[in-house]
Amino acid sequence: MKKADKNRVIVFDTTLRDGEQSPGASLTHREKLEIARHLALLNVDVIEAGFPVSSQGDFQAVYDIAQSVKGPVIAGLARCVKADIDRCAEAVAPATKPRIHLFLATSAIHRQYKLKKARNEIRKLAVEFIQYATKLCPDIEFSPEDASRTEPDFLAEIVEAAIDAGARTINIPDTVGYSVPDEFGAVIARLYESVPNIDQATISVHCHNDLGLAVANSLAAVRNGARAVECTINGLGERAGNAALEEIVMILRTRPDQYGGLTTGIKTERLYRTSHLVSRLTGMGVQRNKAIVGANAFAHESGVHQDGILKQRETYEIMTPQDIGADGTELVLGKHSGRHAFANHLSKMGIRLKPEELDNAYKRFIELADKKKFIYDDDLLMLAQEQMIETAPVYTLEYFHVSTGSKTVPTATVRIRKGEAIMQDAACGDGPVDAVLKTIERIVGTEGRLIDYSLQAVTVGKDAMGEVSMRVAFGNNTISSKAASTDIVSASAKAYISCVNRHLRETAQNKLSRRPKKTT
Ligand code: KIV
Ligand code: ZN
Repeated sequence: MKKADKNRVIVFDTTLRDGEQSPGASLTHREKLEIARHLALLNVDVIEAGFPVSSQGDFQAVYDIAQSVKGPVIAGLARCVKADIDRCAEAVAPATKPRIHLFLATSAIHRQYKLKKARNEIRKLAVEFIQYATKLCPDIEFSPEDASRTEPDFLAEIVEAAIDAGARTINIPDTVGYSVPDEFGAVIARLYESVPNIDQATISVHCHNDLGLAVANSLAAVRNGARAVECTINGLGERAGNAALEEIVMILRTRPDQYGGLTTGIKTERLYRTSHLVSRLTGMGVQRNKAIVGANAFAHESGVHQDGILKQRETYEIMTPQDIGADGTELVLGKHSGRHAFANHLSKMGIRLKPEELDNAYKRFIELADKKKFIYDDDLLMLAQEQMIETAPVYTLEYFHVSTGSKTVPTATVRIRKGEAIMQDAACGDGPVDAVLKTIERIVGTEGRLIDYSLQAVTVGKDAMGEVSMRVAFGNNTISSKAASTDIVSASAKAYISCVNRHLRETAQNKLSRRPKKTT
């Protein structure tokens, strides 16, 4: 196996595995493939594409990504269980560079309550299944789950045994996001001091953000010798999420003085659009003031700052929007642009649509160009991504009408299509959006509780499209989605229908296969 370059930090993206475990962030097959393709364009080193044994859908996604996405290593997750490893090996097999990522909890609390096993049994299991996995795949990663809360002597013992058994990446997770930077850095430093065969493996880290320290902890580990970081786009992931890829990458790039000139292979100019893609397809919005990719990340409001920037950019700007590809506000196409120019521009942006999706997106572009004078890259991205959101929507919005005003009861009429059937109803609400959502519920017969609703302009100007993001709870199932339109009631109706469709699809999938209980 090729020796790791000591000056290079390997970027292991787990958006499609840990990220997809974010409550409400489930993705369709098509959406997973699209994200994987964009991760490859971003030039990540490893894509963890899923947990193949957990469902037929996860298996198929890992398999198809392994088959079609070339460049990065394609990894699948597996417990130290024969069936998991067999399934994972089968799923990653088509990849040019396949990897099996095995994990087993090692901390006292997990050993005692979750696994009910003693240290020596854990060690034995890890060794046995790493050895088994090496027979099926040349590249094995091992994670001692909850490593940061594992007794240091036992952690060193298991890491040494895992390397002896054939693991070539040892990933140290802060599974519950409990660690703080000095402490986590010391965990890595101690491993380098106490594990005799450590130079035969790459040390990786996987930090959760429960205390808001995932990025800081990951970088403390890098300072102490870790040369791979597991992270996700927009910091998606279990609970408070994982370390945000874009933050780690831009910190290393902006502060080489602090990190000994370590680099990554990431094409940073693709960060912004990858973040947008993931946000749109998962339905998980990015907070405006989020570092690097938030809408305000490069917005200077104060007059003093604006004045400083005009005189010398570096007075208040440590990175440029161009560095992350957030300068796409140029006017790109207009009402008279043909289908060919439209397709060409999308392809330059790295977006690939099937012919019928391209037709639909172009139709929407012409409609939009009729309503809106300037069409920007972000508008196009939104139109294209609309086509990827659902492969086979159950319900689609055909028509709506609302009547509202300061002295009238807001009332909506909605027409929805399901296959060949057209259904129509009307209802009132305490505002036009409420009236439309209530009418949709009457038609589809599924009631949801709106937990979050936010509206954001996609680009600039009064005629900008409004993007509605919402989270809806259908019983215990929480779903997120987004939709955009120049009409905010229409965007709200589409986002709600998208949530209903996602909910119905997930319910149908869960009936077919039950995912194993949460693993991380
Ligand atoms: O958080 C965790 O410990 C994990 C492991 C599977 C790496 O996700
Ligand atoms: Zn995790």
